[in-house]
Amino acid sequence: MNENKERNLILLGAAGAGKGTQSQKMATRLNIPQISTGDMLRQARRDQTPLGKSADGYMTRGELVPDELVIGLVEERLQKPDAGPGFILDGFPRTLEQARALDTLLKKLGRAPLQVVDVQVPEALLVERLSGRLSCPKDGASYHLKFAPPKTPGHCDRCQGALTERADDKPDAVKQRLVEYRNKTAPLIDYYHQQRLLHPVDGVGEVEAVFSRITQALQLS
Ligand code: AP5
Repeated sequence: MNENKERNLILLGAAGAGKGTQSQKMATRLNIPQISTGDMLRQARRDQTPLGKSADGYMTRGELVPDELVIGLVEERLQKPDAGPGFILDGFPRTLEQARALDTLLKKLGRAPLQVVDVQVPEALLVERLSGRLSCPKDGASYHLKFAPPKTPGHCDRCQGALTERADDKPDAVKQRLVEYRNKTAPLIDYYHQQRLLHPVDGVGEVEAVFSRITQALQLS
């Protein structure tokens, strides 16, 4: 299968579905950037930019940041040269308004059609995954105490930076993130299904097994 053609991918899925884990693997495989709005917002929060300050409260509570803050961020990012050969959107779009804004932008830019992977994981397993998650604040890499431990405890395999727990992985925020997903993001499954762009993938099992299902669904293997 030709891996040189433009690939514009979206990874949909609830919090903890493995969007970040799988996007990073796909980015390496296809040599296109992983664009995670969660990582971009966390960076803005660390840098104390006006965007970061506005987003902070929403993120800590596990609520979605308002569309107008996120859409501009993605529009700017997608027009950077490294996204020319394709991109993997991780955590965007999350609302119908964001999905429509993305469609308008891609049309304006004359980009190839999207392929949307919906990573499906039962809610009880999502909660288990989020409760043991460790993240690298420097490069966004995700680990899990039980399911995906780092080679050196407490340190990122890639950059050796110290791993931290995310503030929004606390039980109340996790609950809220799953409510936000059900109410605002799950309708995108039907939106992309109607457009025949959707590839549902079972997200349960080893990371490599899920990745293999995704590459098969996208006809990369
Ligand atoms: P974001 O950072 O996007 O968080 P999320 O969607 O809640 O997703 P997560 O990063 O928690 O999970 P994931 O699906 O990436 O799973 P991961 O691979 O890490 O967003 C955070 C916040 O930012 C939002 O709540 C919102 O406030 C704001 N925001 C971001 N984008 C926005 C937008 N577009 N609009 C508005 N607001 C926005 O895996 C989870 C854990 O499971 C890890 O520990 C991992 O090691 C483990 N794991 C992964 N795969 C497997 C596997 N197959 N088996 C076992 N363990 C696994």
